[in-house]
Amino acid sequence: MQNKEIKNICCIGAGYVGGPTMAVLAKHCPNIQVTVTDHNLERINDWNSIDLSKLPIYEPGLDEIVNKYRGKNLHFSSEVEKNISIADMIFISVNTPTKTKGVGAGKASDIKWVEACARQVANNAKNHTIIVEKSTLPVRTAEVIKNILESATSMKSQKNPSISFDVLSNPEFLSEGSAIQDLMHPDRVLIGGEEESAIDSLTEIYSNWVPKSKILRTNIWSSELAKLTANAFLAQRISSINSIAALCEATGADIREVSRAIGSDSRIGSKFLDAGPGFGGSCFKKDILNLVYLCEYFGLPEVAEFWEGVVKLNYWHQDRISQLVVKKLFGTVTGKKISILGFAFKANTNDTRESASIKICKDLLEEGAILSIHDPKVDSDQIAKDLKMKEKKSFKRDKLIKENTQEGNWYFSDEIYESINNADAVLVLTEWVDYTNINWDKVSKIMRKPSWIFDTRSIIEPGKVIKTGLNFWRLGDGLN
Ligand code: NAD
Ligand code: UGA
Repeated sequence: MQNKEIKNICCIGAGYVGGPTMAVLAKHCPNIQVTVTDHNLERINDWNSIDLSKLPIYEPGLDEIVNKYRGKNLHFSSEVEKNISIADMIFISVNTPTKTKGVGAGKASDIKWVEACARQVANNAKNHTIIVEKSTLPVRTAEVIKNILESATSMKSQKNPSISFDVLSNPEFLSEGSAIQDLMHPDRVLIGGEEESAIDSLTEIYSNWVPKSKILRTNIWSSELAKLTANAFLAQRISSINSIAALCEATGADIREVSRAIGSDSRIGSKFLDAGPGFGGSCFKKDILNLVYLCEYFGLPEVAEFWEGVVKLNYWHQDRISQLVVKKLFGTVTGKKISILGFAFKANTNDTRESASIKICKDLLEEGAILSIHDPKVDSDQIAKDLKMKEKKSFKRDKLIKENTQEGNWYFSDEIYESINNADAVLVLTEWVDYTNINWDKVSKIMRKPSWIFDTRSIIEPGKVIKTGLNFWRLGDGLN
């Protein structure tokens, strides 16, 4: 079959993947009209907002691209079906969370939104259409999509023989916070499929900015599984280094030195060896649990157990941090003010999904702490949703202590020193650059004594804090 010329692309799902991915594609393919669709009208309105600070996603460099190409060849629309009907190629970029009930609950990925997309495509496509799986999916999901497309269209295509479909797997490897750079200069682009002409069409699109040597072709099942495996390997590195951080604290070793020493071995490599408060983000836990489910389903319990250990270690590690804070603050944080610096799951994003901050803050609130939470990009509504607790805006610790309140409370602070003022402890949970420039002399004067600084991201120079008389603890430091 001849390569299909792609003039119109429709992406279903205007989220963290759909938005940035299509923005970069539109930038590099001026002859293709790209429309990102979503059934969430509010999200689409935010994407169309004239005020670029209102875009639903914060990613460095994204606003610039949206500003330049929106309305030219980049569009955001809630008319999903209409855009499907005119598309030559459709990217499915919807969410695939862990199932909460039914078979596989707690582990398997829920592909109901992907299935819904397949049905929408089947009902609205008018010509030969290439469907691209961008979402991260369980192995063999392409088969489900094909089945739906084939059975739903068999009647239609008798009337209109030009309707037919190819399904490709093209998983996304971007990291939040560096999404635009990752999309512009990917380590590789992976395309899995059966039909050579469809693979060629997608390859041609990427070739506009990605060297051909970096575009890998595989069979469709390898492509789906490679995505899950990549995330599992990355998360495994973090659980590995966090486990060794705990051992460093017990033995007098220093995790930064251990990371440097092992990372210099070219077989291990230096990336992804930063100990932290435990991995967050919408995907690592979900994708590993999905892998665990697949292993169990295919009768490989030992393999399932191996990968489940990565997630278990992460839970344990997050618990360990909140327990340690309580221990250092003389065994109780009730009525004590703790300044939480950072709520996003990593720096340079406003995403809080599965952020370690959520679990750690919840634990401290449970212990009766009063948290003043600061984050440069996350707002108080999002924090309230994540903590499942309303913000207590007017905070008077002395009053709360007098009332002998046992209940934890939190409020949002939009200024670092205000958050720290009168606090018993500061807990750095996200590696925002703003937190690397804190004036510790000033901090030592405004905290209640004795005061503690906890650095779970190794972004603070210990000497600068210690010389001011503040107590200092950092993750994986045997000299704590
Ligand atoms: P997201 O929740 O930010 O966005 C998904 C969007 O899809 C939502 O806005 C939702 O309203 C929309 N949607 C769902 N069903 C729809 C339908 N039938 N019609 C129209 N719109 C629909 O999710 P995300 O973070 O962009 O992730 C999407 C997929 O990409 C997931 O499978 C995820 O595992 C994968 N992924 C995510 C990242 C990341 O960094 N977030 C990176 C690589 C891969
Ligand atoms: C991750 C992968 O890196 C992407 O390749 C993948 O596309 C994406 O998941 C996905 O499928 O969703 P992301 O979750 O955005 O990207 O961010 P990462 O940089 O991987 O960080 C994940 C978590 O690990 C964060 O909480 C981060 O703070 C933590 N981390 C990362 C560490 O604790 N130490 C490190 O050395 C690196």
